[in-house]
Amino acid sequence: MGFLSVLSFAHKLVSERVASGDIVVDATIGTGTDTLFLARSVGPRGHVFGFDIQREALILTQQRLDHNANTPLSPVTLFAQSHADMITTIPIQHHGHLTAVMFNLGYLPSGTSDKHIITMTDSSIVALDTALSLLKPGGIITVVLYPGHPGGEQEAAAVTAWASHIEQSVAQTIIYRQLQRSDSPYAIALEKK
Ligand SMILES: C[S@@+](CC[C@H](N)C(=O)[O-])C[C@H]1O[C@@H](n2cnc3c(N)ncnc32)[C@H](O)[C@@H]1O
Repeated sequence: MGFLSVLSFAHKLVSERVASGDIVVDATIGTGTDTLFLARSVGPRGHVFGFDIQREALILTQQRLDHNANTPLSPVTLFAQSHADMITTIPIQHHGHLTAVMFNLGYLPSGTSDKHIITMTDSSIVALDTALSLLKPGGIITVVLYPGHPGGEQEAAAVTAWASHIEQSVAQTIIYRQLQRSDSPYAIALEKK
């Protein structure tokens, strides 16, 4: 049978916590899989904010949303901006009220994309710190990490260390990882107290 993939594991954790009408964030929209999942999860009364530094990601994500426009989705606002700018981009009335922020680090997984454009440790940590400050109590952050590509190993180690050092009074942090393959993707999640 096998265990859940890291992506399915992240979706499971989020879907167990979000409800219709919630405000949520896809911090790395890529091709829009997580954006669509979030837009379905929070429904027409909710809202998804999405970030990516590549225009191609915004186009691919918008196409995916348009293809699914016949199903009930939330409004989605996409920003061609770094997730490190979340604090100045997400409207202030939502600060402290986000239910979920999903990160899927690494490169844009489309056929034509430049695989050298990857998430960078410093901005990822700024974005994660910001996301934690914007969550409501009980809200969740999920991070899928890719230690198997150049640059990914260092970023994955830094994010894992960041999550490990968060005070238990602030958030509970967990890891979901295949132990026999050190280069396989893994997931970290934080639930805010
Ligand atoms: C692994 S992909 C995300 C996959 C996506 N969840 C999907 O369903 O296809 C990582 C994305 O992060 C984006 N990215 C890189 N640096 C970023 C930053 N500072 N802020 C936001 N997105 C960034 C990349 O352009 C890429 O599209």
